[in-house]
Amino acid sequence: SLATSIGGRTFGNCMMNAAGIRCQNKKDLDALVASSAGAYVTKSATPQKRAGNPSPRMHTLNKGSINSMGLPNNGLDYYLDYVIDDQHKRPKATNFLSVAGTSLADNLAMLHQIQESEFNGFVELNLSCPNVPGKPQVGYDFDRVNDVLDQVFQFYTKPLGVKLPPYFDLVHFDQIAAILNQYPLTFVNTINSIGNALVVDPRSEQVVIRPKGGFGGIGGASVKPTALANVRGLALRLKPAIAIVGTGGILNGVDVFEHILCGASMVQIGTQFGYEGTKLFDRLSQELKDIMNQKGYTNIEQFRGKLKTF
Ligand code: DHB
Repeated sequence: SLATSIGGRTFGNCMMNAAGIRCQNKKDLDALVASSAGAYVTKSATPQKRAGNPSPRMHTLNKGSINSMGLPNNGLDYYLDYVIDDQHKRPKATNFLSVAGTSLADNLAMLHQIQESEFNGFVELNLSCPNVPGKPQVGYDFDRVNDVLDQVFQFYTKPLGVKLPPYFDLVHFDQIAAILNQYPLTFVNTINSIGNALVVDPRSEQVVIRPKGGFGGIGGASVKPTALANVRGLALRLKPAIAIVGTGGILNGVDVFEHILCGASMVQIGTQFGYEGTKLFDRLSQELKDIMNQKGYTNIEQFRGKLKTF
C-alpha cells in the first residue's frame, strides 16, 4: 500500500501535485481529482484575482524549470468554492487549499474567511513565494514567521501547515524548527523552489524569463539534494505531531522513496507534473511499488524517516 496519514486524515496515495503547477483552474483540479494522486493542492490564492508577472515567466531547463509567475490566480473565493463543492461530493477526501497573501493583513483576512467557511481540509499557508517584486519571502525572516503564526493561531482552529523556502544552514534549521514547534501545526511542506536563481542563454546572451531581470525559482532534478536536506533537517527537529510534506526534485519512484526515507509522510511533485500531467502519478506509484516489493516493504511507515547515517 502507498497509503499515508497526516493529522489523523488518511490518503490512499502518498503522492500529490505541488502548488502552482496545473492547479490554477477547475479543469486542472478536476483532472487531479480523477487521477491516482492521493490529494490535490490548489494554486496559491490571494484575496483578489491576479494576472501575475509578464511573460515569458517560466522556462524549461534540462530536467528542471525556472519560473517567476508572480502569483497569477483566480482569487480565494474561486478556490474556496471549488474545495467546498468537492467536499460535498467526496466527504471522506482531504485536500489542500494554498494561500499566499502578499501581506500579513491579506493572510489573516483569508484565514478568517476560511475559518468561517464550511471547508474542513488542510490549508497550506505559503510563506515562501519568491516571485512578487518587492515582497520578500516571509520564510527567510524568522521574526515575521513567528509573528504570522502567533496571529493566525489566535483564531484559526482548522488543520494548517506552512510551505517553507529551502534553508541552507543547520543553524537556520534549528531556528525555524524552534519557532514552528511552538504552534499546533498539522504539517510543514519543504521545499518551495530555490528562489532568485539566474539562468543565462549564452547563444542569445540573454536571460530566459522576463520578470525581475531574469531571476526566478528553480525546480526539478537539481533541487533534490537541497529538498532532502530540508526534509531530513526538519524531520530531526520538529515535534512528532507536525508531519512533513516533502517537495522538490522528484522525477521517479526512487526520488519518492528517498523523500520518505528522510521523513516525508506525503510528497508533492511540481516541475515533473508540469511535464507529464496526471499520468505521472500512475508511473511514480508503480515505480515506488516496485522498489518496496524488491525491499520487502508493504507500507511506507516501515521505512519512513529511517535513513541510516554512519
Ligand atoms: C509563485 C511561485 C512560488 O514559488 C510560490 O510559492 C507561489 C507563487 C508564483 O510565482 O506564482
